[in-house]
Parts: sequence; C-alpha cells; structure tokens
Amino acid sequence: SNDLPTSELAQKYFYDYYPDEQMPIFTNPCNDKILMNLWNGNRSLCLVFPQFLIVGPQKTGTTALYSMLSQHPDLRPSKKNSITFEELQFFSNDTIYYNGINWYLNQFDSDNMDLNRSINFEKSATYFDSILAMKRIRALLPNIRLIMILTEPGARAYSRYQHEIARTNQTIKFDDLLQLNGNQNSNEFHLRQRCLQPGHYAEYLIRWLRYFSSKQIYIIDGDAFRHDPRVILNDIQISFIQLQNPLNSSELVRYNKKKGFFCPVSNNKRFQCLGKSKGRYYENMSSYARKFLNNYYLLHNQKISHTAEGRMGYPSERYEPTTISAL
Ligand code: A3P
Repeated sequence: SNDLPTSELAQKYFYDYYPDEQMPIFTNPCNDKILMNLWNGNRSLCLVFPQFLIVGPQKTGTTALYSMLSQHPDLRPSKKNSITFEELQFFSNDTIYYNGINWYLNQFDSDNMDLNRSINFEKSATYFDSILAMKRIRALLPNIRLIMILTEPGARAYSRYQHEIARTNQTIKFDDLLQLNGNQNSNEFHLRQRCLQPGHYAEYLIRWLRYFSSKQIYIIDGDAFRHDPRVILNDIQISFIQLQNPLNSSELVRYNKKKGFFCPVSNNKRFQCLGKSKGRYYENMSSYARKFLNNYYLLHNQKISHTAEGRMGYPSERYEPTTISAL
C-alpha cells in the first residue's frame, strides 16, 4: 500500500491503522534539536514556558491560591482573557489546544521578564479531571510541577452546585439532584456529574501519577488553606517552587474581616479580595445530603488517603478531608 497517493495513504494511516493519532499532540521543541530548527521560536522563548501549574479541581480555592501567589513579583501568572478569565484551559479544551504552542507562549508576558528569577505559571482548574490534559501536559512540559488542592469532596460538590445555580437558570434542589436517576443525557444529570465526579480524587491522582512522578506533585489540604493559607504559601515558595527570593506570606495575604477570608494583598498593602462568587454565602446542606455524600465518597476517601500516603509519601493528616474523621 506504499504505492498509494499521499492523501489515500494518510487516510489509511489515520483512519484504518492509527485513529488515536488523528489528534496532534505537541511535544516541547526546546528538548529536540530537529524540532527546534523547524520551530519559528527562539531559545529564549524556552524560558517562557510555565514552571508550575495549579490544576484544580474547581471549587477548592484555586483562584485564591492563584491570586495570592501572583502577588509575588517573581511569580508571573498567564495573561487574563475575556472568555476563560484567569484560566487558559489550553490542555483541557480541544479548540484552545489546537491554537498551538506559539499561542500558548503568547499567553505569558515575556517582555519585561527577568529570565534568571521570574517564574511563569498558570492555573486551570479544568485540568484535574481531564485525562487528555494529563497526556498533553506530559508531552509539552515533562518536568512541570503541579499543584492540586483537595477539599472535603461533599462540600466541594455543594459549592459547585451553588456556583451553577447562581450562574444558570437551573432550579433543581440539591437533594433532588443527588437522588436523580434516569436520563443520563439530561442537563440535570450532567450537572450532577460536574458536582460529584471531580471529587473522585484517588481516581484522578492515580492517573496523574502515571504521567508524573510524585515529586512533581504538591497536594494542598484545601480546608486548612481556606482557614489560614500562610504556612502553605511559605512551604510552596520555599520547598516546592524553590524561589530564590521567597516572601514571608504575611506580605502576600492578610485576613479581611469583612470578607471573612484571607485576601491577597498587593505590594502597596492594598487588599485584593476575591469577587463575590468566591466565598459565597449559602445555607448549610441538608442532613440528608450530608449523609448521602459521606456515603457516596466513603470508598473514594479511603482510597485517596491510601494513595497519597503510599504513593506520595505524605502523612495522611496532610490531605485527609476533615469530615472523614467525623463520619
Ligand atoms: P465557595 O464560594 O463555595 O465558598 P475556586 O476558585 O477553585 O473555584 O474555589 C472557590 C472556593 O474557594 C470558594 O467556594 C471558597 O470557599 C474557597 N476559598 C478558599 N480560600 C479563599 C479565599 N481566601 N477567598 C475566597 N474564597 C476562598
């Protein structure tokens, strides 16, 4: 079949033999001489690639962490845009991914970058539960460092529910959503999935560990982080990112009584508290929902404790969602 015209050969190759290869996957030109020659970038652009990613999942405090770290003058987040705001979602969204590597690099401001000390980073909470994102990140940024925030997954599910109810016209009650069964294609079923699925932490962490070593992954106990992020911010700067000039976290955040949270502070000491949609006020979930979620996540939670302890070498208290002990 080597005699076939090129287009037919391509058809055979991509459709009959290797359908998985229909979708391109970008590797890092900086790690390959031949690619480097083909690529219309230059060596200094190699330093523009991010050195760490905050990968989610959603509703665990990812925006807070992102804006707190952004207060450090050497930590440079990707540029904001009008559609996905502070998130790039490059690796999890096909349309955005096919914009290509140069597009991705352009999302980082390289103009007045001090290449010796500045570190670019991005946060996209959509990466955590995307297998494609894991593969694509591994291909482009094999040495990347990854930060994940894990909170008690039942509360995370409820927070996600509140978020969707506030921004769409869906009206279903949380208890009804949990009990839903039937049409798996309905909007309500999709909403239920979005609330519950990312909380299957162990399933995803095990996947991440197929592509990255445990040393590349930093897990934050999101419940401790929400309560007081200061120790965690110091530890990330010093032991995980190994910043040359870490700032004491009291220069990055301060407790704001009105907001009821620690807020990022800029270098002129002004509060940069997050918007109303972060740290929303809503009623506690019903005792029915609490029981349902405790039961739903029981095995998942045991598994994440086991995985994080065994595979990540962390003592289990560090990530164990708080309500597990209250079961
Ligand atoms: P709620 O609004 O349900 O309370 P994300 O940015 O990943 O979507 O997470 C949003 C959640 O971050 C909020 O959920 C809030 O509880 C939590 N959070 C943690 N630290 C925060 C902080 N310092 N300021 C505001 N929200 C914070």
